[in-house]
Amino acid sequence: MPQGSTTPLTTPTLVLGNGDRLPQVGMGTWKHTGEKASEAVYNGLKVGYHLIDGACDYGNERECGEGLRRALADGVVRREDVWVVSKLWNTFHARAHVREAVERSLKDWGVDYFDLYYVHFPISLAYVSHEERYPPGWYIDGKSEVKHEAIPFRETWEALEELVDAGLIRHLGVSNMCSALLMDLLKYARIKPSVLQIEIHPYNVQRRAVEYAQAQGLAVTAYSSFGPLGFRVFGGAKALHAQPLFTHPAVRAVAAAHAGASTPQVLLRWAAQRGLAVIPKSDTDAMLRENLAGASGAAGFELSGAEMDAISGLDLGLRFNDPADDFAGCYIFS
Ligand SMILES: NC(=O)c1ccc[n+]([C@@H]2O[C@H](COP(=O)([O-])OP(=O)(O)OC[C@H]3O[C@@H](n4cnc5c(N)ncnc54)[C@H](OP(=O)(O)O)[C@@H]3O)[C@@H](O)[C@H]2O)c1
Repeated sequence: MPQGSTTPLTTPTLVLGNGDRLPQVGMGTWKHTGEKASEAVYNGLKVGYHLIDGACDYGNERECGEGLRRALADGVVRREDVWVVSKLWNTFHARAHVREAVERSLKDWGVDYFDLYYVHFPISLAYVSHEERYPPGWYIDGKSEVKHEAIPFRETWEALEELVDAGLIRHLGVSNMCSALLMDLLKYARIKPSVLQIEIHPYNVQRRAVEYAQAQGLAVTAYSSFGPLGFRVFGGAKALHAQPLFTHPAVRAVAAAHAGASTPQVLLRWAAQRGLAVIPKSDTDAMLRENLAGASGAAGFELSGAEMDAISGLDLGLRFNDPADDFAGCYIFS
C-alpha cells in the first residue's frame, strides 16, 4: 500500500489531514450494471478520472473491478494513481462482519487495499450472509420491513480502524452522517474520518453540515449533484415532482452567461467552488468528459459570487435519499 498520494495533478485535489490528496472529481458507479459498469470505469479512467466511487450496495463491484483491471493491464493508469473507494453496507456493522465485508469488496474489485472506505449509513441492519443474498439491500425479503440491529457505531468504527492498521484501507470516511453523529464520532475515533460524503445539490445545500465537517478537517464529497435526476428511475414522488435542475431557469441563466457551459457543468462547478469533491455518474463517454471538464475547471469558466448565491438560493432542504421517507411511504427502494 503506497504511503501518501502519487496522484498526478491533472485534476484538482483536496488536501486531507495527513497531506494526502483526494481527487476533487471522481466518477459515481451507482446504477451502473453489467458490462456497462465495466466499460464506464474503463472509459472514466481513460478520460482522466482518478477516483471511482463504489459500494457493496451498488451490486456491481465485480464488474467495476473488471474495468479497473483492464485499465491497469492496458497501462491506462497505475494502481497508485487511482482512488478505489467502497462502502460498508448496513448489514455488516457488527465487529464480526466488518472484515468479511471489506475482504469481499476487495476481492470483487481485484485490489488489495481501498484508498477510501466509507460507512455507507450510520444505520445497522440485521446480518445477511453473502450466501443468502449479496448485496443484501435494505430489505429482508422484497419489500418487507427493514430488520434493524442495535450495533453501536463505535464498534463498527473500531473494527474499521483495525483494518487501516492491517493495511487494507488507507482512509476512512462516513456517509449520510449528520453533524451531531459526526461530533460524537470525533470524540472517540482513534483514526479520524478523512471524508464525509453526503447528498448535496442546489435543493439541498447543507451549508451548516459542510462548514462543520470542513472545520474539523474533513473533506466533503457531494453525491447526487444533479438532484432528482439520479432518483427518478425509482419512481419516488419527490424525485418525479421536483423541477429538474438541468432546466431550472436559475441554472440555465448561469450557463447562458458562460459561453459553452452546460447546466450539468454549472451544477458541478458550483459544488467544486464550494470546496466540495464531486462524483457524478454517467454511462457515456461524452458526459464523462463534460462532467470532468466542468467540475475541474478545465471547461474554462468560474461562477461569480452572485451566481454562486443564485444557485445556493434554490435550497429547499430537499433530500432525495432519506431513509425516513420509507416510513412516510413516499419513497421505496425496490
Ligand atoms: N453515499 C450514498 O449514500 C450515495 C447515494 C447516492 C449516490 N452516491 C454516489 O454518488 C454518485 C452520483 O450520484 P447519482 O448517481 O445519484 O446521480 P448524479 O450523478 O447526480 O446523476 C446521474 C444521472 O445524471 C445523468 N447525467 C450525468 N451526467 C450528465 C450530463 N453531463 N448530461 C446529462 N445527463 C447526465 C446520468 O445519465 P446516464 O447514467 O444515463 O449517463 C444519470 O441519469 C453515485 O453514482 C454514487 O457513486 C452515494
